[in-house]
Amino acid sequence: MKKIQINTSSPYDVIIERDGLKKCGKYIRSITNSTKAAIITDDIVGALYGQTIINSLSESGFECSTFTFPNGEQSKNLSVFGDILDFLCETGITRSDVIIALGGGVVGDITGFAAASYLRGVDFVQIPTTLLAQIDSSVGGKTAIDIKDGKNLVGAFKQPALVICDSNTLKTLAPEILSDGMAEAVKYGMIRDNKLFQLINDHDLNSIDKAMDEMVFTCIDIKRDVVEHDEFDKGERMILNFGHTLGHALEGWHEYRNFTHGMGVAAGMCMITERLCEKSLLDKLKECLEKYKLPTGTDIPMNELLPFCRKDKKRESDHLRYIICRTIGKAEIIKVTFEEFCKLMEA
Ligand code: NAD
Ligand code: GLY
Repeated sequence: MKKIQINTSSPYDVIIERDGLKKCGKYIRSITNSTKAAIITDDIVGALYGQTIINSLSESGFECSTFTFPNGEQSKNLSVFGDILDFLCETGITRSDVIIALGGGVVGDITGFAAASYLRGVDFVQIPTTLLAQIDSSVGGKTAIDIKDGKNLVGAFKQPALVICDSNTLKTLAPEILSDGMAEAVKYGMIRDNKLFQLINDHDLNSIDKAMDEMVFTCIDIKRDVVEHDEFDKGERMILNFGHTLGHALEGWHEYRNFTHGMGVAAGMCMITERLCEKSLLDKLKECLEKYKLPTGTDIPMNELLPFCRKDKKRESDHLRYIICRTIGKAEIIKVTFEEFCKLMEA
């Protein structure tokens, strides 16, 4: 078992352990005296891992109840959010109880936001079951739901009380969902850690399981360092957005269908690298992403993508900030006008 302490405004541990799911009751008991545990999950994850969690929690004296919603981004909405709040109320969850998010980033984001708002805040535990959720969304306290006008537009900062990552759960992921998370792992290597990049580049989609625990640990430790310096996303945390400005534009252009976040990030990292860095660096990045069956560019004309960059919610009036890694392991934040960004991308 490996543990990382995240020293944010309310500190917590991330436990990384194969088969850690079976011990979750013991770990959660070590952080709370609560009698009730409300498990929030989606239909796929609930069917795969719900009973394991309930067995472990029951052994540690928790009285469990479960709320399950249909899997996928389309559930991260106000209606399901309201259903979760009603469920918490109906099952008599109080401020001294605990809420458990069992699933990928969708479950983590909506459950975290429910935990932030229900009774003005109840402790919640993240048990992330996708690679993206283990190395990114479960750590750092960003919680959100989507509204008509866009993704993640309503939410709160709410740090979990504990995170439990069991890399054995990643074995049941569809290959394209594992690939999706690998784009974020490559991003961590690019922005902070050449050794991590090499570790990822030494494997591929079939062999990465052998390096999974080391990779997950290193990625979370990088995220720890970034969020400890900038918990509320005022500056440095922006480096986590390497590849994301163009990535979000690509996702938007595809109307979020048949084109995942990870595919956008992968292509976005290549597109900005191509314009500003040496060809040898771009070649290395492409070689690595191809091992995980991720795209390394796009055929979509720039003039169709740039309007989506203009809509990016991270943009400030007429400026935007993009991230560039001129060497593997070092990220810079560059602030430009939107016109300068267009000129660069159209070059
Ligand atoms: P997801 O939660 O939709 O999971 C993807 C699919 O995998 C779902 O169908 C799910 O049922 C299935 N699944 C999950 N675990 C499984 C397992 N172990 N075995 C088999 N199937 C499994 O998607 P995601 O990629 O995990 O998360 C994406 C979400 O995360 C987006 O809503 C995004 O906005 C959010 N996000 C949040 C942050 C943050 O900091 N809060 C960061 C990045 C992304
Ligand atoms: N996923 C980006 C962040 O946590 O800031």
